[in-house]
Amino acid sequence: MLDVYRLDDGQQTLVLAVATDRLPQVVYWGAPLPPTEDLDAVCAAHVIDITGGMLDENPDLSICPEAGRSFQGQPGLILSAGDGAPILPKFTATEVDASAGLKVVSKDAANGLTLTIDFVVDAQTHVITCQTTLDTRIPVQLHWLAAPVMPAPQQSIDMIDVSGRWCDEFQLNRTPWTPGIHMRENRTGRSGHEHFPGLLIPISGATDTSGECYAFHYGWSGGHTMIAEELQDGRRQVQFGHAARTQTTPGTQFQTAPLYLTYSDSGMNGCAVSFQRHVRDRIVTWPKPDQPRPVHYNCWEAVYFDHDLPVLTDIADRAAALGAERFVLDDGWFGKRNDDTTSLGDWTIDPRKFPDGLTPLIDHVLGLGMTFGIWFEPEMVNQDSDLCRAHPDWVLGPADQIAGRQQHVLNMALPDVRDYLYDHIAAVLGDYDVYYIKWDHNRVLPAPDAVQAEGTYALLARLRADFPLVEIESCASGGGRIDFGILSRTQRVWLSDSNDAIERLRIQHDAALFLPSAVTGSHVGPRVCHTSGRTLDITFRAWVAAQRHMGFEMDPRELDAREIAVLSEVTQWWKDNRDWMRFADILRLDSADLAVTAEQHLAADGGRFVVFAGKSATSKQIAPRPLRLTALDPAAIYRISLKNRAEIAPLSRGTTALKDRPLELSGAYLMRHGITLPWSFPERMWVVEGTRL
Ligand code: DGJ
Repeated sequence: MLDVYRLDDGQQTLVLAVATDRLPQVVYWGAPLPPTEDLDAVCAAHVIDITGGMLDENPDLSICPEAGRSFQGQPGLILSAGDGAPILPKFTATEVDASAGLKVVSKDAANGLTLTIDFVVDAQTHVITCQTTLDTRIPVQLHWLAAPVMPAPQQSIDMIDVSGRWCDEFQLNRTPWTPGIHMRENRTGRSGHEHFPGLLIPISGATDTSGECYAFHYGWSGGHTMIAEELQDGRRQVQFGHAARTQTTPGTQFQTAPLYLTYSDSGMNGCAVSFQRHVRDRIVTWPKPDQPRPVHYNCWEAVYFDHDLPVLTDIADRAAALGAERFVLDDGWFGKRNDDTTSLGDWTIDPRKFPDGLTPLIDHVLGLGMTFGIWFEPEMVNQDSDLCRAHPDWVLGPADQIAGRQQHVLNMALPDVRDYLYDHIAAVLGDYDVYYIKWDHNRVLPAPDAVQAEGTYALLARLRADFPLVEIESCASGGGRIDFGILSRTQRVWLSDSNDAIERLRIQHDAALFLPSAVTGSHVGPRVCHTSGRTLDITFRAWVAAQRHMGFEMDPRELDAREIAVLSEVTQWWKDNRDWMRFADILRLDSADLAVTAEQHLAADGGRFVVFAGKSATSKQIAPRPLRLTALDPAAIYRISLKNRAEIAPLSRGTTALKDRPLELSGAYLMRHGITLPWSFPERMWVVEGTRL
């Protein structure tokens, strides 16, 4: 007996075929099918042929492919009994509850296994959320459990996954499909710079603005495994789960993190927009949703560990004058922390630096009209700390492990550790007017174990329950812990330790495939970048930061009069526009000039936009190539104007219209021909504002 179910959200249809005696399989996922589609015919049409060299029936590529049914690729579930004997699951009885989304419960009575698969579709964001849960009659050792397994399109030549490193996060890699497995496995114990848990599968020819694309994100902060496999019969599957073998204790219940899926026929942007909206409107919980995102000042690159009250208050004065609204005191305020060799874990205020506690600084900051935030790195400990001396048994991993940034990791699975951290963080939040935490995590785990991330999630949940107005920023040496799991517990990510605007322009552009502007921190760094050594003009640094959640991180005492004027002006522009930009879609533009990274932030109602065209290098050709816009109404007329025409270089001698005046052009023209910008130096950003008339 076969039942067929469909999930629709207006942008995609997913069809699930459910036989009562086996696991369901996705027989269609992609562009919306007509409501009248005969789903039995879809199931029938899905069956592929059999020829020489094949089994007499093709094993299902089900939502959890089973080794016990001769599936020849990676199974969705690998486990063994307590004595180590492998269990080959074979689910033989399935029931479906379609009252809200789809809940599929399948049983393997012989092995005492119950597999539950949930699908929920969001008609506003066009993201499907799915999850797999395994219950077992007796404790088992889990080696691998995939979130619902999806078929991948055979019309794609390659897939795009995401790697990175410190100061160069969100690198997009194209890997051709070939027979066999392309695996990304993150064994660092955090979502990591190295392997962001996301995947895009563009159908051949798709670009940012056109064509079809499929996208995946696994919402887990403890490290994941991704398998993209082509079977010998040509079928393809995508699996995501917790990094294999990181659920180290035998148990009777296991659950994957949510897997987020979306499909678009408007290029990779369609997927990006779905994820951006879903993160902003569904995943993140905002303590004060109606308040504008405040401009940040973070003191890290100004003073590092050298916390001195007169210096900090002077910096705060200057930051506030520039337009900052939240002052974040970074690493160095606790224990005896003069450098990174000591004191992590000793979360009490350093009386040498703050003899009267934090009150004088906080009062000063509040007096300037800013709010106050503070840095913690809760999961970490230095061996040179009172905490480590008192509780060496709280340290995760072997005594002779390799340290990272001179530090070790606390065992977050221990309730005592979580209580200690809760008490110390809560004391600071309770004693002072602190409404923001920058939560850092600067080293990988000695060995990955899922209970570590679960422990962190539990601590975050407790703190958030007791301090619901406190916002949290997820940082891990920059962008080492960015995923929808941490974002369901935090409100901002520190995307990268690179404040080099050239690097940042690229990183945040690629991160926009998954992240909305509202959560993506971007700071104006020092004139000479501390991590690249590059010197960049304040205009470029300011505009790059203004593309996302804006902040400053340089020592404001280094700014000259021109830099102060530029930064104040761009910051005011950001404040004037932040309310609509927070809810805008970031649309990556198909720039015909490889030196130009361009994006269009389009207001939710389509009535206005801003285009940022950042030129990170000198172009091959002399004159700028027309920049095609996207997602406009072809029949509508838009007034476009160059916001920062004051930045036109003397070497630009021509009569490019936008230099002198706004232009009124149709959406069709802007999307088909594109806008013609003036010539500029490299390391400059053009900012074009558009309004629908
Ligand atoms: C790494 C972070 O990414 C930086 O922004 C800063 O907070 C340092 N840690 C502090 O140690």
